[in-house]
Amino acid sequence: MTWWRDGVIYQIYPRSFRDSNGDGVGDLAGVTDRLDYLEWLGVDAVWITPITVSPDSDWGYDVADYTAVQPVLGDLDDFDRLVAEAGNRGIRIVLDLVPNHSSDQHPWFVEALAAPDSSRRDYYVWGDPKPDGSPPNNWRSSFGGPAWTRDPASGQYFLHNFLSTQPDLNWWSEDVRAEFDRILRFWFDRGVAGFRIDVCHAIVKDRELRDNPPAEPDDHPYVYNFGQRKVYNAERPEAHDVFRRWRAIAEEYDPARLLLGETYVLDVERLRPFYGDDDELQLAFNFVFLHSPFTAEGLRSIIDATERALPEPAWPVWAVSTHDLPRFVDRWCGGSVERARAAILMLLTLRGTPVLYYGDELGMCDVPVPPGQRRDPVGTGAYDAGPGRDPCRTPMPWSPQPGGGFTTPEAEPWLPLSPQTAVTVEEQRNDPNSMLVLTRDLIALRRSEPDLTSGGYGSLPAPGGLWAFSRGERFAVVLNLSDATGAVDLGSSGRIRLSTRRERDGEAVAAAVEVGAWEGVVVETGG
Ligand code: GLC
Repeated sequence: MTWWRDGVIYQIYPRSFRDSNGDGVGDLAGVTDRLDYLEWLGVDAVWITPITVSPDSDWGYDVADYTAVQPVLGDLDDFDRLVAEAGNRGIRIVLDLVPNHSSDQHPWFVEALAAPDSSRRDYYVWGDPKPDGSPPNNWRSSFGGPAWTRDPASGQYFLHNFLSTQPDLNWWSEDVRAEFDRILRFWFDRGVAGFRIDVCHAIVKDRELRDNPPAEPDDHPYVYNFGQRKVYNAERPEAHDVFRRWRAIAEEYDPARLLLGETYVLDVERLRPFYGDDDELQLAFNFVFLHSPFTAEGLRSIIDATERALPEPAWPVWAVSTHDLPRFVDRWCGGSVERARAAILMLLTLRGTPVLYYGDELGMCDVPVPPGQRRDPVGTGAYDAGPGRDPCRTPMPWSPQPGGGFTTPEAEPWLPLSPQTAVTVEEQRNDPNSMLVLTRDLIALRRSEPDLTSGGYGSLPAPGGLWAFSRGERFAVVLNLSDATGAVDLGSSGRIRLSTRRERDGEAVAAAVEVGAWEGVVVETGG
């Protein structure tokens, strides 16, 4: 078994998982506290969003020291303890690597700004103003506004594809590449099993800083709404040298470490290059899937296209929620538990590595965060008037008691606790009909049936509103994403191994399997 192919990854937003010291903020010792739960759930690895030192203008995604732990989360001893305790339970730790940009408070940038002649200047991307004083080109920040801010002292602009407090690093610099080689090795040597690589698709920028072309009406709606195609500040061919370099470092270790890219491209055909010739990333996140409508037709077409675009040995990776988007229970399911159960069954039966976002297993919803309590820079007014990303980053609901089992009853959690009733680990853990037990049973079924991990995917004919696919030789999955009962002919009778309607588990079925509205079933055929 290759853990990152056959296993399940669980994403933790560490400030919101478990607070071990009563300050209202989750921490590394809190994650260690809850490893028994993760072992019980059956996950193979945990990906933790950034834990390194940061002034938190983008909650850890603005790094001021790449090899030290943010004090509110703990220290390196806490981290070592976490790796060791997780290892005792067969759970690996994956960290977030943020190579596209640092914090403006990183000593590299402080020096680059203070001493334009210093060698650090070239660690960042600078451009001269146009004759009228405007920025060097038309690139826009992903958070809105121009991607350039002028340094008044030198008169030059520096690039930031996110906040102006997140200056982009210059990946043409051999020194920057060497710094990151050291950073990778620092964490790999401490037992880290791999990295999720932030903004992986965009680290290298066009050397000539050419203008991006406008978006076209038939572009993906996210590209169209952004207004320009990121031709010159993303997916540059030279990035592959960097990925190969990192892969070579990952392969120095035994077992090889994982490179899992945040590859934000909205066309599945463009995912393939990130895998290289099996010498770049092992996994590349699929954002087309995340942005899919929750319909049988929409999902099937994206999965079928991904399967065509990523033949073996490339391996897909799927997530239904992340720390950047509304949770799937809201985004896809309108808060319906029934639909959420079908979605989780899909996630855990596709060919590829599933990544659960903490709380997905409970059917956790977004939590409304009143404007005065917002923390995310996207949502606090300067960049966006919307609710930002806080609603999907709220504390894990462990128990119905005050503090939610996340923090002490007296402490003020850093973001509000979910008001959802019955969505806690304590309440769901012993309820055989709960979403949590469904998730756990699906993970266990995957683990026990190689067809459900390594078996091929085949799209099967199904009427409108339904989607059916085979896994390997003996398994089929039928999802009814509609309000009406429907049936799919699987060509041979079989047995339901697991249904979102748990009373059907074990039921013998004829070749034509009937599925209720929003039901999902895993069928073992030929039995
Ligand atoms: C990635 C992260 C997001 C962050 C951004 C800038 O998209 O997932 O949370 O704001 O990069 O680092």
